[in-house]
Amino acid sequence: MERRPFGHAGRDAPVIGQGTWHIDGGGRRAAVQALRRGLDLGMTHVDTAEMYGDAEEIVGEAIDGRRDEVFLVSKVLPENASRRGTVLACERSLERLRTDRLDCYLLHWRGRYPLEDTFDAFERLRRDGKILSWGVSNFDVSDLDEASKAGGAGRIACNQVLYHLEERAIEHAVLPWCEAHEVAVVGYAPFGHGSFPGPDTPGGRLLRRIADAQGATPRQVALRFLVRRPPLFTIPKASRPAHAEENAGAGGLRLSHAEIASIDEAFPLGPPPRELPTL
Ligand SMILES: NC(=O)c1ccc[n+]([C@@H]2O[C@H](COP(=O)([O-])OP(=O)(O)OC[C@H]3O[C@@H](n4cnc5c(N)ncnc54)[C@H](OP(=O)(O)O)[C@@H]3O)[C@@H](O)[C@H]2O)c1
Repeated sequence: MERRPFGHAGRDAPVIGQGTWHIDGGGRRAAVQALRRGLDLGMTHVDTAEMYGDAEEIVGEAIDGRRDEVFLVSKVLPENASRRGTVLACERSLERLRTDRLDCYLLHWRGRYPLEDTFDAFERLRRDGKILSWGVSNFDVSDLDEASKAGGAGRIACNQVLYHLEERAIEHAVLPWCEAHEVAVVGYAPFGHGSFPGPDTPGGRLLRRIADAQGATPRQVALRFLVRRPPLFTIPKASRPAHAEENAGAGGLRLSHAEIASIDEAFPLGPPPRELPTL
């Protein structure tokens, strides 16, 4: 599993991690097994959020006894992101996750509280050792500019954003901004939240051809494409161990320039959107 520096967090993380939204779709037992299998195979970046129902508790069970292996990320909901609310939300997440610290804590999306208030709370949590770094999610370039003024240079570890083959809007401005400011870009919903290009579509056929040539699967090829630039990470969600195994297999894959160019052509970038797309 390839690892790389995670923005300003001062730590490495695997390029392929694990999402947990609706992780219990196949039952809690399978979810815990899937997460543990993912950890065994190096997908130690685990992404969760207070919003994801009982996902934090499931993650807590899955990482029990192996906390030090994990790069653990959770998120505060915008409606809780006041100075005091952020601290309390983090403490509740830590309890559900059965741990004393998060590796990174994110503002899930922008809400009504001033960024300064949320970031002050993040800094307080950092000083207290309850989080080791912090970042944002669903932030467009104008939000990132404001955030970097409010939080101070070099403070934002990552921006977690929607990114899959058929939704590449971040490549217009968000990805270049993050590259220039050494902010990790964590792409969420890499399989389009369950709408992966079908085998009978031109894009699906191309992925299959590249996969066959590489001894890989179309999903592994897609994941590898999504982490082809240095600040990129991806966090597919798998509720079943077999899916986790397949996803982890992308962590050692290498695509040629020609393969990357053909995927680029089959899933075109499209024009810049007026607003950053989100799920
Ligand atoms: N920051 C944000 O606002 C935000 C928003 C959305 C998501 N996220 C994060 O990003 C993570 C990933 O996004 P997502 O869960 O929306 O969607 P996703 O990862 O694009 O897709 C998940 C779907 O793909 C399936 N899948 C996974 N691996 C597979 C494989 N190898 N073969 C076949 N199917 C496979 C899953 O099935 P099974 O579950 O049955 O294995 C599930 O149906 C989330 O879980 C969450 O942690 C963040």
